[in-house]
Amino acid sequence: MKAIVYRRNGEPAEVLALEDIPEPAAPGPKEVAIRLVKCMVHPIDDLLIRGYIPEPIPHGGAVPGGDGVAVVEQVGSDVDPSSGIVPGARVVLFPVHGTWVERMVVPETAVFPVPADVSDEAASQVVINGITAIMLMRHALAAQSVVGAASPLLVTAAGSSVARNVIALARIRGTKVVALVRSDASAAILTESFEGLPVVSTEKEEWRAAVAGAHGRSPSVAIDPIGGAMAPDLLGVLSDHGTLLTYGGLDPQPSQISTITLTVRSQAVKGVNAPSWITTTTPEQRVRDIADLFAIVRSAPQNFTEYSEFALADAVSALSAASASPRRGATILKFGI
Ligand SMILES: NC(=O)c1ccc[n+]([C@@H]2O[C@H](COP(=O)([O-])OP(=O)(O)OC[C@H]3O[C@@H](n4cnc5c(N)ncnc54)[C@H](OP(=O)(O)O)[C@@H]3O)[C@@H](O)[C@H]2O)c1
Repeated sequence: MKAIVYRRNGEPAEVLALEDIPEPAAPGPKEVAIRLVKCMVHPIDDLLIRGYIPEPIPHGGAVPGGDGVAVVEQVGSDVDPSSGIVPGARVVLFPVHGTWVERMVVPETAVFPVPADVSDEAASQVVINGITAIMLMRHALAAQSVVGAASPLLVTAAGSSVARNVIALARIRGTKVVALVRSDASAAILTESFEGLPVVSTEKEEWRAAVAGAHGRSPSVAIDPIGGAMAPDLLGVLSDHGTLLTYGGLDPQPSQISTITLTVRSQAVKGVNAPSWITTTTPEQRVRDIADLFAIVRSAPQNFTEYSEFALADAVSALSAASASPRRGATILKFGI
């Protein structure tokens, strides 16, 4: 079967290859054999391939991809059919490693059925980024409750896939949001998507005042994947007792944060990552979270309708398309073409 493999870190065009690798073994107890259908290309895929996030490469090479949509081909013993995980079922996969491959065997705990009204394209876009948004919202609402539920959330890199899911979820939860993007062009694209959403561009000199004024009071929580030089600026626009929730490092520079200011203003900085979902939630919570994933798709279908698809063999072009700026919609790898 075909897979995208890299054996050293570097420029994707130089290190990625479409290879024939052995088929996986039959699924064991509590395992599921699946055939991949679609995978969204994520910023982290590029970072891992280039080695910017250090991760050891296994002897036989590494396969990118940490989520996807698939069809169940076979289930191992002890997989409960009442879970909906049965041969032929469409499922999302998370957390998994190495999904840029035609077939895999994965634990049943990483497999969740996709409702009939959710397309493969939408399901592939909402997996890791929706779970990240759900975790961020859980932390954000807890942090916001310290200051008061009327205070808005500030969502940065707000045109990103994660941020769009956060905005959709905030609307479901009835929480006010102010969106921050880095360019007027990105602001125009986002404004089209969410009616009535205050969108502020950091291209404008007075962006800090615009953030504070968007809902008549300063945000209590910033949900931010940028970090770097942006982090102290964000703490500056947050209210006292505010929290900076960080979930990435789009600006890889270390942040210069004054602990004196944090102390005096009783502010907090907290990191959130999607892979910890499996270790920090109960199975019951995960079932509710997966239901929320599909609620996001239903409530904000506009987040999922624009995308470009690439064959697995064109993974290098897909990675390049995924990092275009400003970009409209997701980049998806499609299997079997
Ligand atoms: N912690 C976790 O578990 C987790 C999970 C998923 C994603 N993430 C991280 O979340 C971030 C967003 O992921 P995504 O898939 O949602 O991204 P995406 O859809 O590819 O969008 C990236 C967005 O970031 C903006 N951006 C890029 N560099 C920026 C910078 N230096 N300053 C300001 N804005 C910048 C882009 O703005 P323009 O449109 O203006 O170019 C674009 O809107 C990534 O850093 C990713 O690694 C973390």
